[in-house]
Amino acid sequence: MDEIKSDLIKRDQKDYIDLSRSEAENHYKTEESKVVKKKVVRKNVALNKVADFFETNIFSWVYHYIKSRFGLKHKFQTYELTDDKGIYKMEKSSQDGKEEITIALASDWATDTVESDLIGDLIANKDPDYTIHLGDTYFVGMKDEIRDNFLAKNCSWHRGSSGSFALLGNHEMYSRGISYFRDLLPSMGVYSKEKKKYTGQKASYFCLENDHWRVVSLDTGYNSVGIPLIEYLFKPKCDFRKEILTWLKDDVKIDQDKRGIVIMTHHQYCTAFEKEEEYVKPAEQLAEIIGKDRPVIWIWGHEHRLTLFGRYSSEKGIAAYGRCIGNGGMPIEFKNKLIPERVKDRNLKLYDERVYSKIKNVEIGFNGFCILNFMNDQLKIEYFDIKNELLVLEVWKADNQSGVITNTEINIISKDPGMKYNP
Ligand SMILES: [Fe+2]
Repeated sequence: MDEIKSDLIKRDQKDYIDLSRSEAENHYKTEESKVVKKKVVRKNVALNKVADFFETNIFSWVYHYIKSRFGLKHKFQTYELTDDKGIYKMEKSSQDGKEEITIALASDWATDTVESDLIGDLIANKDPDYTIHLGDTYFVGMKDEIRDNFLAKNCSWHRGSSGSFALLGNHEMYSRGISYFRDLLPSMGVYSKEKKKYTGQKASYFCLENDHWRVVSLDTGYNSVGIPLIEYLFKPKCDFRKEILTWLKDDVKIDQDKRGIVIMTHHQYCTAFEKEEEYVKPAEQLAEIIGKDRPVIWIWGHEHRLTLFGRYSSEKGIAAYGRCIGNGGMPIEFKNKLIPERVKDRNLKLYDERVYSKIKNVEIGFNGFCILNFMNDQLKIEYFDIKNELLVLEVWKADNQSGVITNTEINIISKDPGMKYNP
């Protein structure tokens, strides 16, 4: 990994303002950023005006866009036919001075910006045992973008001392998941002290566990990209592939096991801000296995905000305490306003609308990350912002005889009026 070099030129958060989820636009932005980087390298000499004409990369954009829409997705990788079932006991390796096993989470982080570097450095300073990226490498998860965020010597993704994992988002799938599966996953996984290396993440789903809790991380990204031309009529449901459901039943035995469950996915189960952006199918698939009444903590990204929900179930979905942490690296735009009827319906408890900066006259919120601290039956979750301020701390207990999880404490530490809380 050490030999891989990036070009050292960062992107700017302003490049991400108003970014839509259109594949065409995201491919265009990737091509555009290549041109910007080349210009910086050549320091804008006069000849560039001629070069620019050829370098707008229209051909490359069209080529990559067509390929991404009509080419085959990367093969979906599974644990079938291997001894490694993707279920790992949590191990303490870091020297962070804590007794707890710690897992740092960031979502929608991989923007290769000053802000994502800051978040990466803050995570590194906490020396967590594990780190997990909950998906979305911008703009389209191509080889250079995977390299600059996760693989290059100077990249700021921190690998936990016991392991590091990555979930699949929609943006990696805009390039058919190829670089995610081919380049990123082999560099991740559990750290082997004997081999002195990360042993590779074999699939886009996995489970970390202790005697009381299980962190079940699942893939909603693979089925997040629609069929060209008819995708506007039949919106992708981000449902779990059948191999994941089989793994949950046969290997994880999630229906029989009574430990507390933390689900992680890229896509959100619910939101109070974006009308058309709720993905209930995965929650329904889980309900078919564990039933509707066994509550879980569910951590997701995709929406670029920090939001906490109380217990919520869709009509046929599981009961979940949702935590949206999609504020890892993308600019937090507040353009989607609160949908008042969702506050009660979705049981919205907390959201962060503090203003951090202004870009192009648009108010931008705080990026951040969170740390899960596991000790015996207790799970403590800390939410930090880009200034390393601890905003919220919540404590949960799991009963491994009944499957019940209990929220014993929630402390809203930030007193900023932009931190909205409904007790
Ligand atoms: Fe996303």
